[in-house]
Amino acid sequence: MDWVPEDIDLTRPSAARMYDHFLGGSHNFSVDREAAAAAEQAFPGVRLAIRANRSFLRRAVKYLVDKGIRQFLDLGSGIPTVGNVHEIAQGECRGARVVYVDVDPIAVGHGRRILEGNPDAAAVRADLLDPEQVLAQPEVRELLDLDEPLAVLMVAVLHFVPDEQDPWGVVAGYLDRLAPGSHLVLSHGTNDDFSDEENSGFETVRKVYQRTASPIVVRTEAEVAAFFTCLEMVPPGLVRLSDWRPDSVEQWKSWRCGIGRKPSPC
Ligand SMILES: C[S@@+](CC[C@H](N)C(=O)[O-])C[C@H]1O[C@@H](n2cnc3c(N)ncnc32)[C@H](O)[C@@H]1O
Repeated sequence: MDWVPEDIDLTRPSAARMYDHFLGGSHNFSVDREAAAAAEQAFPGVRLAIRANRSFLRRAVKYLVDKGIRQFLDLGSGIPTVGNVHEIAQGECRGARVVYVDVDPIAVGHGRRILEGNPDAAAVRADLLDPEQVLAQPEVRELLDLDEPLAVLMVAVLHFVPDEQDPWGVVAGYLDRLAPGSHLVLSHGTNDDFSDEENSGFETVRKVYQRTASPIVVRTEAEVAAFFTCLEMVPPGLVRLSDWRPDSVEQWKSWRCGIGRKPSPC
């Protein structure tokens, strides 16, 4: 398998590869598939949630291109699968620029392979927790103009960042450095709507993800709303995945998502 880096630990599941498996991708191993199966057995809605999240991502990127955004910084971008940000953005507008950032070596390696020959997109291996370092990456500087509005995507990733790492401060660290008119696209797992049964199933999911390098933290709607402090919410605001400008009948209730726009000045 030419896409497997040498330094990878095949005894430990990875959140990126489990996500790839849930989406029907092929960049995962039995340790990931077994972990994904355990999570899905305890919490059968997990696959539906992930698909609804991916649909939100697609609708969000289309919305932003329609609003004139031409540059995208996709943080925690995952292993490329169908409907990647560059395919959506460049499909809507040739020349749209996209930089993918992920800590997972397979996500970045596969990203680089599929982006060969695409001068307007790149994949970078970096930790999103350090905005200054991410924004200083050569690919970011080459492809993105931080003096112009851009979209920063944090889709299904901040629930892998514990409170101690101050995800709110991290988000602010990016927004502070971006031009007015930039947008934050965010989705996040929440448990406000869980029944008792779902809460207990989710406990197993949490334990499964504790075996990865990305333990999961679900937050309340109010905690997710705090990521958008200082931003103008794009209608319909912070809502469930299936309620953000839906174009299909997918239903998923227990996450929140939204797009915020940086006003001038923030
Ligand atoms: C569930 S996937 C989401 C992929 C994509 N954003 C989507 O919504 O379809 C989360 C990704 O975030 C990455 N990730 C987790 N923590 C990260 C961090 N601190 N810095 C960069 N990437 C991170 C994981 O490796 C994984 O690929």
